[in-house]
Amino acid sequence: MPSGASTREETRVIEAYADAKPTIAAEVSPETPLESLNLNWRERDLPEKQRTKHVHRLHPYLGKFIPQLVEVFLRKYFQPGQTVADPFAGSGTTLVQANELGIHSIGYDISAFNVLLMRAKTERCDPAKLESEVRDAINAVRRTNCTAARIPELDDEMTDDEPVDSDYLRHWYAPEALRELLTFRSAIMRANPRYELILKVILCRAARSARLTTHFDLDFPKQPTTEPYYCYKHSRTCEPTRDAMKFLERYAADTVARVAEFQALRTDADVTIIHADSAKARVAKIDGIITSPPYVGLIDYHEQHAYAYHLLGLKDRRSEEIGAAANGQSERAKRKYQEAIANVFDRFVKKMPSGGPIIVVAGDKHNLYPRIAELIGVETEAVLHRHVNRRTGRRNNAFFESVFIWRKR
Ligand SMILES: C[S@@+](CC[C@H](N)C(=O)[O-])C[C@H]1O[C@@H](n2cnc3c(N)ncnc32)[C@H](O)[C@@H]1O
Repeated sequence: MPSGASTREETRVIEAYADAKPTIAAEVSPETPLESLNLNWRERDLPEKQRTKHVHRLHPYLGKFIPQLVEVFLRKYFQPGQTVADPFAGSGTTLVQANELGIHSIGYDISAFNVLLMRAKTERCDPAKLESEVRDAINAVRRTNCTAARIPELDDEMTDDEPVDSDYLRHWYAPEALRELLTFRSAIMRANPRYELILKVILCRAARSARLTTHFDLDFPKQPTTEPYYCYKHSRTCEPTRDAMKFLERYAADTVARVAEFQALRTDADVTIIHADSAKARVAKIDGIITSPPYVGLIDYHEQHAYAYHLLGLKDRRSEEIGAAANGQSERAKRKYQEAIANVFDRFVKKMPSGGPIIVVAGDKHNLYPRIAELIGVETEAVLHRHVNRRTGRRNNAFFESVFIWRKR
């Protein structure tokens, strides 16, 4: 197979799989031939509800891979009791799916919010206790809303908690929304709940939706929207939101249900999450890798959750992101990217047994990965090209991604 996804190759993939039965992840085993896989799931084969099942939708995250894709390669290349590493673990898709299958996992990420999200998704949890803690925090906001519509000074609200960037918060939230978010935050900080991380995820998800922005630009809004606007998502005039309570309530209920669903599937397999630059962190012994690395100059992984960093006072380590969007896609940026990714893989591959699998999912339109394979000296078992042609929301553009299947020599 060619290494990068050429247009001819893309046409071949679309034609070859037009009538073929899509792979059902749960049916894959180590004996399933790679050639029999059809990973070109269409919306009707793998609806959004399944792609975002249980904790995979605790909080939006731009740039994750779908759990069914990870499940296919976990089932094909790993056994329960083995350990898979994801050096760019993001929102934790590899870790959640590995745990479901009884496979130990170790995930690394440089972005503090992603680490918080992964820990919230994968921690052991008693859903009844979580529900009670969530109810307490929601009730604290309800009580404040009832007390004569008090709108305290922002600085008063902030004195007893971690430092936050109040300029950012004043800029992006209507006063009522901000008061509700800060009351929820204070309730979490004061009560010291057992499930603080999950509560923080609810807070951040509500904070994302409650920003003064349009319904169609929640990913990277540039300026607050304070006036009514024509909404492309709803085909009518909409107004920026003034409150956060409806989001807190909605996401609180949704989160409790999702966490409970995953807890019923959770196994005793270990999940280890490390907040570190994977180019420098200590690496333990592993059996293989499944990952989707940051791509060159594409997504800013800190910026997409800016509200969380400001609200929770999380440490910003964007300068350590590999392939940071701010560094662009020049030839120099691409070369540096290849070296940086190869360096990370090299460090992890050293901790694997010979023959161990390295599965890398990347939309490699610049054809950078064959050189990365050369730099680390792995053997290429196969490269699969996958047509991603889902049609949901505004992100309905079809594209190709490659799955590189390498083996340690
Ligand atoms: C494509 S995303 C991974 C998404 C993940 N597969 C998922 O399903 O959620 C790449 C991740 O690499 C992380 N990253 C970038 N540079 C890093 C570095 N130097 N060390 C560790 N993680 C890094 C980013 O923060 C981002 O979360």
